[in-house]
Amino acid sequence: MTLSHTDQSWPTSGISFGGDYNPEQWHPDVWREDVDLMRQAGVNLVSLGIFSWGLLEKAEGVYDWAWFDEIVDLLGENGISIDLATPTAAPPSWLLARHPEFPPVDHDMTRHWPGARLGWCPSNRDFRSHALRIVRAVAERYGSREHVVMWHVSNELGGGNGHCYCDVSAAAFRNWLKSRYGSVDKLNEAWGTAFWGHHYGTFDHILPPRGNDAKNPSLMLDFDRFSSDELLEHYRAERAVLKEVTPDLPVTTNFMVGAEPDAVDYARWAPHMDILANDHYTRSSDPVPQQDVAFSGDRMRSLTTDRRPWLLMEHSTSAVNWQPRNRAKNPGELIRDAISHVAHGADGVMYFQWRASRAGAEQFHSGMVPHAGPNTKVFREVRALGGHLRRLAPVLGSRVPAARVGILFDNEAGWATRRGVKPNNFLEYGAAVRDWHAAFWRRGDGVDVLPPWKDFSTYDTLVAPQLFLVSDDTALRAEEFVAAGGTLIVTAFSGIVDENDQVRLGGYPGAFRRVLGVWTEEFYPLQEGETFRLDNGWSGQEWTEHVHAEEADVLARYQGGALDGYPAVTVRTHPGGGRAVYVSAGIGRAGIRALVDDLVEPPPEVVGRVPGLEVGVRHTTIDEFVFLINHAAEDATLNISGTELLSGLTTEGSLVVPAGDVRVVHRSRPA
Ligand code: GLA
Repeated sequence: MTLSHTDQSWPTSGISFGGDYNPEQWHPDVWREDVDLMRQAGVNLVSLGIFSWGLLEKAEGVYDWAWFDEIVDLLGENGISIDLATPTAAPPSWLLARHPEFPPVDHDMTRHWPGARLGWCPSNRDFRSHALRIVRAVAERYGSREHVVMWHVSNELGGGNGHCYCDVSAAAFRNWLKSRYGSVDKLNEAWGTAFWGHHYGTFDHILPPRGNDAKNPSLMLDFDRFSSDELLEHYRAERAVLKEVTPDLPVTTNFMVGAEPDAVDYARWAPHMDILANDHYTRSSDPVPQQDVAFSGDRMRSLTTDRRPWLLMEHSTSAVNWQPRNRAKNPGELIRDAISHVAHGADGVMYFQWRASRAGAEQFHSGMVPHAGPNTKVFREVRALGGHLRRLAPVLGSRVPAARVGILFDNEAGWATRRGVKPNNFLEYGAAVRDWHAAFWRRGDGVDVLPPWKDFSTYDTLVAPQLFLVSDDTALRAEEFVAAGGTLIVTAFSGIVDENDQVRLGGYPGAFRRVLGVWTEEFYPLQEGETFRLDNGWSGQEWTEHVHAEEADVLARYQGGALDGYPAVTVRTHPGGGRAVYVSAGIGRAGIRALVDDLVEPPPEVVGRVPGLEVGVRHTTIDEFVFLINHAAEDATLNISGTELLSGLTTEGSLVVPAGDVRVVHRSRPA
């Protein structure tokens, strides 16, 4: 088999399996039981020390390594590798007591109090020097240990300190603006500061978007960009220390990639990671959580340049504790979620956290070992999963095949949609993108969810759902994509503003007007509960608009109401056969599904279609791995031959995937 992670070795020899390990919460007697249970479960990697700063550095420069030495040794003796954290997510209380100015300040100028985590302003250089001291100390003490295989920088950077509005941040923001714009005149132009007389004579008068009054959207977007860059700078400063001490160890930090715009711009962070790692959690209220698993994997993979595998750094074995009502996972769900993440390109499955805590803010969050102990559904499934992942070692390094469908997802578009007042303030960017993803996912289409600056040419179909902010370059490449024969689907409230968050004139959807051959005169957002109908029988809510289809054919028209008879869905067929489709109305999931089925050929079948059976593929140049995840309550019988890796049995023709269960078939890659 030709498997390889191109330029960086993977931290474990098989699929990584484990979780956050916080032994400081437990008596050392429990540590021995922990490693026993870890061995039973097949754990080969734990993230250690994430919140240990205050216990490692008791006062400035005064270290207590003894307990940590013991746990590091214990894990090594038991063959468990360590993804060692820099503990900067949890500054010690002595440090915060001495520096009340470290915690971040919210937009209303209230400063966070110590007592949570990530309690520091990303721009504060004093804080950073303390952070780099503990990073270096940890790296020098443990970096050369053979079973320390990877660095985990801080924890979910931006989750708690994504924005800071304090004076230190304000000064850093001004510097960032100076280097972005060069002159204050350019900034005035980019921000349109003539409005409400906000013109600046000097950078010195610029403030972060503090307070609750309406603010200039361009300023707010730049503040979001700046905030992401500041945290990236912090990550890079920690990374530089780690690389100085241990040049060969991979460095990562855990992303929070899902269906919401991210706290920071992960697509721009990704090139600074040796291995991409994600924290993904499903929501109790989500009727189709398995699609959210697929969505996050489809985004993670698309953050790389070569579809290389990534690491699921955190997931939950069962309920989380941070939703209004925290649903326990159903029997088998833990395994289905995990295998689905692997099917979508993860080469590791890790959880928050090894042992459910007795105390502290997350005492009701599930763990790999629940409060009730190992004689439980959760631990039995953890152990079973460990066995599965061990048998899936041949999958390591294989790739998810190229996708036919690309869906554009851009944090800047999401941030710009969310900030500032809009014609309808109930449009949710993440939900809009996920609805389109669902329509393809349900049919078994391979989908990439990619940032808009990536190459479009490998896709047959490209969707731009509610892509509010679009650069000239993206607009041009979308035109080239259609000219080359692709199908482009653009939905309402896309292409509206440029990179400065200024409206594109001449009719909506500005950036895409030319390729679509339509222009919109005015938006007609609907009131809560109000619906519209189209003449093809579709209906929907939230959004309609007054469209002129000058160079496009009309697929459906509004029926009734102020827009009666006007185009609602249009298609422009280009000379090379490419199509540009505009969906001007909120046609909802049913409409989206119908449109996708009308416009886009279903994907070739891998094993035939069985309701509720999710099929994923990974491959190498010669091997193919077919992941079969049965979300349904009935057994699925399919036609496939190869070696079923979880049982080791050869299957010739007919394979049953029991209800709620998973199978993975290894076969030769078809020519
Ligand atoms: C995040 C954090 C963890 C924990 C989990 C709970 O992912 O990184 O420390 O708080 O959420 O779901």
